[in-house]
Amino acid sequence: MSNVAAAESANGNGKTFFGHPKGLQTLFFTEMWERFSYYGMRAFLVVYISTSTALGGLGQSKATAGIVYALYGSSIYLMSLPGGWIADRFIGQRKAVLIGGIIIMFGHISLAVPSNTAFIIGLCLLVVGTGLLKPNVSTIVGQLYDKSDVRRDAGYTIYYMGINIGALAAPLVCGQLLAESQSLRTLLADNGISPNAAWHFGFGAAAVGMFAGIVQFVYGWKYLGDAGAPPKKVEKKDRTPFPQAIAAIMAVSAVFIGAFIFWRIDYGGAGKKILADCFGVGLAIISIATFVSLHQVVARDADEKRRVRAMMVLFLGCLSFFGLFEQAGSTLSLFAEEKVHRELLGFHVTQSFYQMLNALFVIMLAPVFALLWVRLAKQGKEPTSVTKFAIGMVMAALSFATLLPALLGPIADGGKVTGLYLFIFYLVSTLAELCISPVGLSTMNKLAPDRLAGFVMGIWFLATAVGYYIAGRAEHEVGSLAKALDLHPTAGLFYLLILFALMIALVLYMLSGPVKRMLAVQPELPVAKVI
Ligand code: PHE
Repeated sequence: MSNVAAAESANGNGKTFFGHPKGLQTLFFTEMWERFSYYGMRAFLVVYISTSTALGGLGQSKATAGIVYALYGSSIYLMSLPGGWIADRFIGQRKAVLIGGIIIMFGHISLAVPSNTAFIIGLCLLVVGTGLLKPNVSTIVGQLYDKSDVRRDAGYTIYYMGINIGALAAPLVCGQLLAESQSLRTLLADNGISPNAAWHFGFGAAAVGMFAGIVQFVYGWKYLGDAGAPPKKVEKKDRTPFPQAIAAIMAVSAVFIGAFIFWRIDYGGAGKKILADCFGVGLAIISIATFVSLHQVVARDADEKRRVRAMMVLFLGCLSFFGLFEQAGSTLSLFAEEKVHRELLGFHVTQSFYQMLNALFVIMLAPVFALLWVRLAKQGKEPTSVTKFAIGMVMAALSFATLLPALLGPIADGGKVTGLYLFIFYLVSTLAELCISPVGLSTMNKLAPDRLAGFVMGIWFLATAVGYYIAGRAEHEVGSLAKALDLHPTAGLFYLLILFALMIALVLYMLSGPVKRMLAVQPELPVAKVI
């Protein structure tokens, strides 16, 4: 029986979830809770590290907080590579999600304990747990569908909605209502408890969220059919080795990062830049080593090599997109803080409110996109995945262009602008995200040979890690380039980002035909018809 048939009839009554296999519901809520825990603690992590010890924080400098945040964020997605491989090779995706979820929960519990050592152990557990859970839960989604099922992109888009429901609720609950809440501090003090415990209530809420995710995953396990089952016994000669070059680099980086966090070396000025440069070089080497070994060693025949080449195109699209998109946390939050009125449509809003708009728009628009892809597919008019990426990059360019009138007009004259600008910015950038992020998950899954499904998903998250890294450095590096070219400081940065996005869109558009033809060499391959 095919996966899809198995998954759809797994519960014996053929029930579906919005016209999709019932297993999608299990994965939707598991990822919703996992992202709730992830974004919940992330919402106040930097503030917690840099708040003084008297107020219950770790009392580190802002620079150290930034570095820990960046290293932690990248390591989480980097660990998706071994996490995906372990699932493919030994335990299957389902068990990896369960074990990963339990490790994540203990990670948050550890953060909830007010001690420096517990904090460091907690972060390490989160890195390992998320590396096991995130790529594998995303892989199981695809395994609910046959390779040629036209509902797959739509399925990933619905799943993406779950991610964003978790991401939207998390900062409100873990950050605003608990960790950073003044009223909770007062309440605790009134009851003879240290008000500083508020932080740990925030971390604790993240742990409770992950617990809910685990319970519902175990409950919904029965709907998954064969999806994510452990691999069949493989002959020694057929085993997929974890590319040694990557393993070596990751081991060295892990020791390096571990040493850094453990001894909390406060790198200032030049030291910070060297550390950031080293990390970037490490990411570049890991990315190149991954593709070289995948293409030259792991791929078994001409067909698999072609798939790996198509993955490279998606990798380029993914890192470029996230390089722009993740500026939301840096460039755009500064823009919101300094250049935008606090009043929006009669309400007083905070800077972080604008960042929540993205999750809100995903939740509203994901169903529209899911319907659109299925409808276009039925009419035979669905763009290929690479074309969708190109459209997404044009949208990403447009999103930055929507802010130019504000920058060149009122802001250039020293004034502030209405929040409607950011409203439109986030709307357009969410349209871009929906053309790229869920589509990329779906297409990587389609391209992956079954025995490499988890590892290939790990590669997708490696691309997001590179994108994150680029976004973190772009503001400064591209900003100095704009200055060197004598452009307006912020508008100059935006011009260059727009130019970059349009160039990548063009490259992707030009590659979409060749990728399609390349995969159509063997038209009997289901993937040739649907990528
Ligand atoms: N926001 C989405 C998520 O958390 C997509 C994303 C994945 C963004 C990884 C950045 C990095 O799953």
